[in-house]
Amino acid sequence: MTKLVVFCFAVIGLIAVVNLDSFSNLPVNNARFDMDKAIAKHEAHQKELAELAKMREERENPPKVVEEEVVEGPLVVLDTPQLVSGDKLYGKCIVCHGKRGEGKKSQNAPKIGGQMAWYIEKQIVDMQNKVRINKVMDPYIKKLSAQDVKDLSAYIEKLPWKEK
Ligand code: HEC
Repeated sequence: MTKLVVFCFAVIGLIAVVNLDSFSNLPVNNARFDMDKAIAKHEAHQKELAELAKMREERENPPKVVEEEVVEGPLVVLDTPQLVSGDKLYGKCIVCHGKRGEGKKSQNAPKIGGQMAWYIEKQIVDMQNKVRINKVMDPYIKKLSAQDVKDLSAYIEKLPWKEK
């Protein structure tokens, strides 16, 4: 029994000695621990993690597709005094030309929404001067000042072409 124990120790000792040799062959790393490098590495890793988290967040909660709202507000953004005035004056024209200037067949009134302001202005001025005869519109335009006509034209030009 004792012999066996001694033998085992001998074998273990031998293995240890052989392995010691391989330890001594390991390259010696004398490089000093670089704090700055470690911090930079850590930060890069954190950044990578944040990006991955963001990707996962996006995958799990895809942005909802906002359905296009049906614009029901003012047809024209009244951002100048001229457009405010034009909007007011246009109230009288709606019966025949429609809210969006889309025209009305029943009134023989043409589409005027989106038409160029200079053209609209010229037509109304011509009608006022009886160069262009338009009996039905006469009562509606006869009292309009030159400035009113300009305001109206600027407003009508901005009306959307498309019908509902
Ligand atoms: C009673 C209905 C009626 C009203 C109200 C009316 N219009 Fe007209 N408008 C017409 C008709 C009809 C015509 C087409 C006349 C023609 O054949 O020359 C017309 C033509 C026009 C034209 C010429 C369009 C083109 O392409 O040549 C313009 C511009 C116009 N109207 C602007 C106005 C404005 C601005 C108002 C409000 C101040 C107005 N109208 C109010 C009936 C109306």
